[in-house]
Amino acid sequence: MKAIAYTAYGTPPALELVDAPRPKVGPGEVLVRVKAAGVNPVDWKIAAGFVDPLFEVRYPVIPGWDVAGVVEAVGPDTFDHAVGDEVFGYVRKEWVELGTYAELVSAPVRTLARKPRTLGFEEAAGIPLAGLTAYQSLTRVGAGAGETVVIHSAAGGTGSLGVQIAVALGARVIGTAGAHNHDFLRGLGAEPVLYGEGMADRIRALAPEGIDAGLDFYGDGGVEVLQSLVKERSRVVSIADPEAAAKGAHQLWVRPDSADLAFLADLADRGALTVHVEHALPLAEAAKAWELSAAGRTRGKIVLTV
Ligand SMILES: NC(=O)c1ccc[n+]([C@@H]2O[C@H](COP(=O)([O-])OP(=O)(O)OC[C@H]3O[C@@H](n4cnc5c(N)ncnc54)[C@H](OP(=O)(O)O)[C@@H]3O)[C@@H](O)[C@H]2O)c1
Repeated sequence: MKAIAYTAYGTPPALELVDAPRPKVGPGEVLVRVKAAGVNPVDWKIAAGFVDPLFEVRYPVIPGWDVAGVVEAVGPDTFDHAVGDEVFGYVRKEWVELGTYAELVSAPVRTLARKPRTLGFEEAAGIPLAGLTAYQSLTRVGAGAGETVVIHSAAGGTGSLGVQIAVALGARVIGTAGAHNHDFLRGLGAEPVLYGEGMADRIRALAPEGIDAGLDFYGDGGVEVLQSLVKERSRVVSIADPEAAAKGAHQLWVRPDSADLAFLADLADRGALTVHVEHALPLAEAAKAWELSAAGRTRGKIVLTV
């Protein structure tokens, strides 16, 4: 099968389109024919060695954790999905080696759910990692109906899905973004605010009574600003500040979770969750996709089509 691979860390590493062996399918796994692979910043961060203390890496590495595709084979004693099923997933495994930037990927069923029927493969591939991150962040701080939630960095992958999920849960959402993304955020159901100097005052002007929960999807001082705005200091979560826990906020690392993923698929099929696919590039252009992602301006998601 064709796959993208690299053989050493690099910023960026040399990505090559290679012929790789057909992945084996073990018990509790299914073989997925990849239609689209979602691109996440963690893909190139792993390749740069930034998360080396956390994950064993075995070369050559086929990068990628997000997938949408069709089940092609089923491992022994595995009943969760059948051949022909359309699935999507955050296929994070025990170590980094056989990822989703490929024609086929073997996926533990705990990482998968049924693909939303109403979304195409490209849109579906944009949901798993970022959507699970957003949903698990919201549940970590218990954000819910009737509450005011601030999402710092609301226009990117995690943010744009987070806004929609929070709105679907019944929250009022204030989202930060550059001015060029304010209409985009309004379209998703958020009240936009410019980030940077004076952000706390701008949010206070919209929510003088204070906010109920704060989600930091950017880092760089976001936690402190959100902590100055929440009524209860414990209701701030960060996915991007490595010091968040030391600052008294929740520090979240997204987990593969079939039930959470099924919840997101259901939201999509009820029309409450869509994906803005900013760029859909062919697999062979993975390096270009990483360049775009690393530029930090992605609106919604970047995906690779296979
Ligand atoms: N811990 C975890 O489990 C976890 C999970 C997912 C992601 N992450 C991390 O969380 C971060 C966000 O991930 P993502 O996938 O959402 O990234 P992304 O899609 O690449 O985010 C791009 C967005 O960042 C916004 N942005 C740029 N500069 C900003 C600033 N100074 N303040 C606020 N927003 C700014 C941009 O909006 P504008 O163009 O409007 O500026 C753009 O829409 C990354 O660092 C990623 O590695 C961690």
